[in-house]
Amino acid sequence: MPAGFQQLGGETVTGTLALSVFTAVLGSLEFGYNIGVINAPQKIIEQDYNATWIHRYGKEIPAGTLTSLWSLSVAIFSIGGMLSSFCVGFISEWLGRRKAMLINNLLAFIGGGLMGMSKISRSFEMLILGRFVIGAYCGLASGLTPMYVGEIAPTSLRGALGTLHQLAIVTGILLAQVLGLESLLGSEELWPVLLGVTVLPTVLQMALLPFCPESPRFLYIIRCQEHHAKSGLRRLTGRQEVGDMLAEMKEEKRRMDMERKVSIAELFRSPLYRQPIIIAILLQLSQQLSGINAIFYYSTSIFIKAGVQSPVYATIGAGVVNCAFTVVSLFLVERMGRRTLHMLGLGGMSICAIVMTVALATLESVPSMSYLSMLAIFGFVAFFEVGPGPIPWFFVAELFSQGPRPAAMAVAGFSNWTANFIIGMGFQYVADLCGPYVFLIFAALLLFFLIFTFFRVPETRGKTFDQIAANFHQHSAGGMMDMDMDLDLGKPSTELDYLGEESIN
Ligand SMILES: *[C@@H]1O[C@H](CO)[C@@H](O)[C@H](O)[C@H]1NC(C)=O
Repeated sequence: MPAGFQQLGGETVTGTLALSVFTAVLGSLEFGYNIGVINAPQKIIEQDYNATWIHRYGKEIPAGTLTSLWSLSVAIFSIGGMLSSFCVGFISEWLGRRKAMLINNLLAFIGGGLMGMSKISRSFEMLILGRFVIGAYCGLASGLTPMYVGEIAPTSLRGALGTLHQLAIVTGILLAQVLGLESLLGSEELWPVLLGVTVLPTVLQMALLPFCPESPRFLYIIRCQEHHAKSGLRRLTGRQEVGDMLAEMKEEKRRMDMERKVSIAELFRSPLYRQPIIIAILLQLSQQLSGINAIFYYSTSIFIKAGVQSPVYATIGAGVVNCAFTVVSLFLVERMGRRTLHMLGLGGMSICAIVMTVALATLESVPSMSYLSMLAIFGFVAFFEVGPGPIPWFFVAELFSQGPRPAAMAVAGFSNWTANFIIGMGFQYVADLCGPYVFLIFAALLLFFLIFTFFRVPETRGKTFDQIAANFHQHSAGGMMDMDMDLDLGKPSTELDYLGEESIN
């Protein structure tokens, strides 16, 4: 990112650093690819499910069964992700970041293999199982990649390099949509290649990982191997003198040792954490229940219903908008408040969802409405990347200090994948049931999350954890939409005054 690289103040990007970051974000690319890949070939694969059914049972597949099987194929991905995202902390400490990524590739091989062979084997069970395994891969990758990149990047480059994870995800989605074109891999014969090709980045990553150093931060803070950490730092920075970075890690280790690790149960029991964790969960829900994955999983069939001429190209258009606005948001996040951006995104999405509904509902009498519905979906995706896409993850990291952060991350990840599953599994049923009005549900949910953010979510940009924590006490003391009563009543009035100013901003 140009803006980031200008700010580095003498920090050079060495070949080793570039290679390591590239290798790691191949995992993010694959994550995005598998989100987007089942969108375009839905109709074709459904036909194969039907053919398999006829082959096995001698009659065509009942429509309800087909919907169930397809929704399951889409959504079981999130179950895999949910289960494995819980293991990220444990596996990354046990094996180290690098070996964890290496081993994770086995899952990609198994998942990709199962999906690629499912047509020859006439088995939709294999495809569903493959989606589950590749989901497990993605759950691990989506945790390990940002962790590794964040740890090997020098402080001045951390923000800029960290955003490459997000960029690789949206690029992966776009890549999957393009390859899903019927003239490329989205055809009746080639769709198994489309799903199986996910093993290619895996091969590349496995070939490159041996040349990447293990995270020095992991080696030093977790393994206490100062010597190895030093040589890793030398390779990554290209400098002989790495004492200042080591000192930085020492300071971080000292702070970590001071703060006790907080368990997930404690997170909910302690009044200190209860409000922040509720906010973290609701923000994750706002990301997934906004309906964004209804677009990424099902946009092609939505566009078909909306009477769009070439639905697959419209889906690719949505992917391009998605990429473009991810870049836009990288610049916005540093300049505007998180809370403001989140509300802007939610509000924009809600309006787009309403426009979408109107367009779909009047399509019969006004055929040109198909263009409006397409624009509404593009706007929906754009606003998503402005706020609800990136912001909820920022919040989890900023609402919690070192001690409770791993537990909070696990809870947030679990909420995110669960909501992702609900959308993947339920959308088709609800869409069949509600017809053009399905997006009104998302509009209402978005409005709810907007109101929630307005009343309950504090601005975190540029604040310390102490200031943020104090803010929660003030909110409770004000009795605004109160949730927990067991708060500290003996607060000195000076703090309340200071917070009074704070909440005006
Ligand atoms: C299944 O295939 C049969 C025969 O090709 C076709 O008549 C039927 O419409 C298909 N059913 C579905 C749900 O696609």
